[in-house]
Amino acid sequence: MLSDITPLRNCIFCALLAYGFNAQADELFAKADTNAGKALHSQHCIRCHASSFGGDGSAIYTRENTIVKSSKGLLEQVRNCSTMLGLKWFDDEELNVAGYLNQNYYKFDH
Ligand code: HEC
Repeated sequence: MLSDITPLRNCIFCALLAYGFNAQADELFAKADTNAGKALHSQHCIRCHASSFGGDGSAIYTRENTIVKSSKGLLEQVRNCSTMLGLKWFDDEELNVAGYLNQNYYKFDH
């Protein structure tokens, strides 16, 4: 009977959905070279954050009300900052830095 299998179908659907969301950040950053990202980040991004947040500046990524709320948002923010600074980064450089920040600070799975 259809009514008997409906909950099961919903359950499978939810599992797929959850998998889809988890896969997103992994997929987005799958090709990120986080070591290259770390180097770029140290060179261009730390000083200014550190002057307002102290230490290595990373508190800006872990503070309570971060601007960035998702892996896509993170990539966009990295893009905004690098554009603002006139760094002329390629897409893969932005991806490397965003992947590095996600791996170490944001840890988005969505
Ligand atoms: C000239 C100073 C300056 C430099 C250089 C700078 N940033 Fe920022 N960044 C800021 C400020 C200020 C904020 C916080 C803005 C706010 O709170 O509204 C910020 C916020 C961010 C955030 C969001 C933090 C959050 O709340 O989630 C990210 C991500 C970020 N910067 C990445 C970078 C990257 C990547 C670079 C290097 C390309 C960089 N920034 C270079 C000043 C700077």
